[in-house]
Amino acid sequence: MPDAALTDRVAEICRAHAGREGALLPILHAVQIEFAHVPAAALPTVAKALGVTVAEVQGVVSFYHDFRSAPPGRHVLKICRAEACQAMGGAALADAAKARLGVDWHGTSVQGVTLEPVFCLGLCAAAPAAMLNGVLAARVDPARLAAMLAETGA
Ligand code: FES
Repeated sequence: MPDAALTDRVAEICRAHAGREGALLPILHAVQIEFAHVPAAALPTVAKALGVTVAEVQGVVSFYHDFRSAPPGRHVLKICRAEACQAMGGAALADAAKARLGVDWHGTSVQGVTLEPVFCLGLCAAAPAAMLNGVLAARVDPARLAAMLAETGA
């Protein structure tokens, strides 16, 4: 998308949230839904709309793991890194995912799978948990993860 069109769309999103307290996070979420990531070119428009600096907006984008600065691959695999999952093999699951995909966190494999950390998917009682393309999976071990990825063709 050309920058001018992107700027216009981001400005529309900002106007839709105008006057709302704590508007930055909802705006960034809406931008990410629209573009599948938060483009750097969107930040000045968001900053101007809210009367903050671009650095402040960038700081929020960097702080929250949910925001992506680059478009994801065709598939998105999220693996829970919070305590309950870590206690039930989450680290081994993450290591298996990294090894299979050949990427680290936030990387995208040659098969088009983006690996992202997430901090609790609400399946703590059935840890470790993962989410592939928005579909939750409980009690995931490396073998199940491999099967899930195989189903996507990745
Ligand atoms: S800690 Fe992993 S789903 Fe809650």
